[in-house]
Amino acid sequence: MKLCRFAVSALVFAVSAATMSAADPPPWAYGFEGPPQAGAAPTAIGPANTDQTPRSLPGATAQYARAQIANRFGPADWFPNDHPQMPDVVAHGKQPNVWACGLCHYPNGKGRAENAGVSGLSAEYFIHTMYDFKEGNRKSADPRKANTNLMVQFAKNMTDDEIKAAAEYFGSIKWTRWIKVVETKTVPKTKPSNGLFLIEGTEMEPLGNRIVETPLNAEATEVLRDPHSGFTAYVPVGALKKGEALVTKGGGKTIACANCHGSDLKGLGPVPGLAGRSPSYLMRQMYDMQQGFRKGSWTQLMKPVVANLTTDEMMNIVAYTASLTP
Ligand code: HEC
Ligand code: HEC
Repeated sequence: MKLCRFAVSALVFAVSAATMSAADPPPWAYGFEGPPQAGAAPTAIGPANTDQTPRSLPGATAQYARAQIANRFGPADWFPNDHPQMPDVVAHGKQPNVWACGLCHYPNGKGRAENAGVSGLSAEYFIHTMYDFKEGNRKSADPRKANTNLMVQFAKNMTDDEIKAAAEYFGSIKWTRWIKVVETKTVPKTKPSNGLFLIEGTEMEPLGNRIVETPLNAEATEVLRDPHSGFTAYVPVGALKKGEALVTKGGGKTIACANCHGSDLKGLGPVPGLAGRSPSYLMRQMYDMQQGFRKGSWTQLMKPVVANLTTDEMMNIVAYTASLTP
């Protein structure tokens, strides 16, 4: 197994996970305005959109209504030429329990802040993590995050062949820049909407100690699900420099990421890339791994990496990794 050499470096760096105190999951990464109340339930998943008004997108030839754009078993494919031919499970899912992967992750695998970018991952990692979802090793630290439960439901209802087809498809598409990182003190005011923060109006507010990852164009992302319209991540001033120090040197608090994620953090062998990926998604993963909600066999290698990091340190790290060119 290729991962053995990583296991060695992880073990040498022995840290005590027992010192970690449980904090609330950072709401900005999970798509909520505040921390969950005790005993909070998953947010309800609404019915599919039924709006039949035709919509168009600059550069796309076909028109689609929202009912088609958000069709769980065959969402609109605005740009059929920007990706290889989709396997059936990616394009249509499987009735009744597997929704089309392309609905949330987009046909080109770019994904969104409230789910994940899935293109460019090694097929080995993709398959392994799908089994982690299937076997209960990937859950969300925030009990309200209903779409993580959906992901578990899909994985449980997929065959080995369907998982392999999706892994090979998304793995064949290169991960390219999609998120612009901006250090700032003030941000446009946003409202959470189905796990995504959307800009409403022109009012500004202090950023404080959080990252606000929001679509460049709320209408393009939320209404049209435009797979060419990316995101801006507003991060605190100084976050990139602090994140860089932890990522490259570890600073006695963590292990330099390049050891396992590759010198430019674009991924190494089966280990997933970090460069240019959604900071909200990566933050959720680091926090979920630290708190034991994500706990597959490969996650063991990440345990010592996250054990001693504070939430702010993880935030600085993901701000920095998001800023790197994939
Ligand atoms: C309803 C929206 C939705 C659909 C449809 C969906 N996913 Fe996901 N997927 C998610 C979410 C949400 C996450 C991230 C979970 C989290 O952050 O806790 C995710 C994460 C993933 C990841 C993990 C990526 C990583 O870097 O580890 C993979 C792989 C994945 N999905 C594959 C699939 C496949 C294959 C399909 C189609 C069968 C699919 N997804 C359909 C919402 C969705
Ligand atoms: C000892 C090897 C090792 C080191 C060092 C390491 N990682 Fe990882 N990392 C992994 C492995 C293996 C996985 C896949 C875990 C799994 O499948 O659960 C992973 C997964 C991740 C993920 C989840 C990615 C996804 O697509 O879901 C994040 C985020 C991450 N690492 C961040 C970091 C950061 C940041 C650093 C440096 C501070 C780092 N890692 C250092 C081995 C390592």
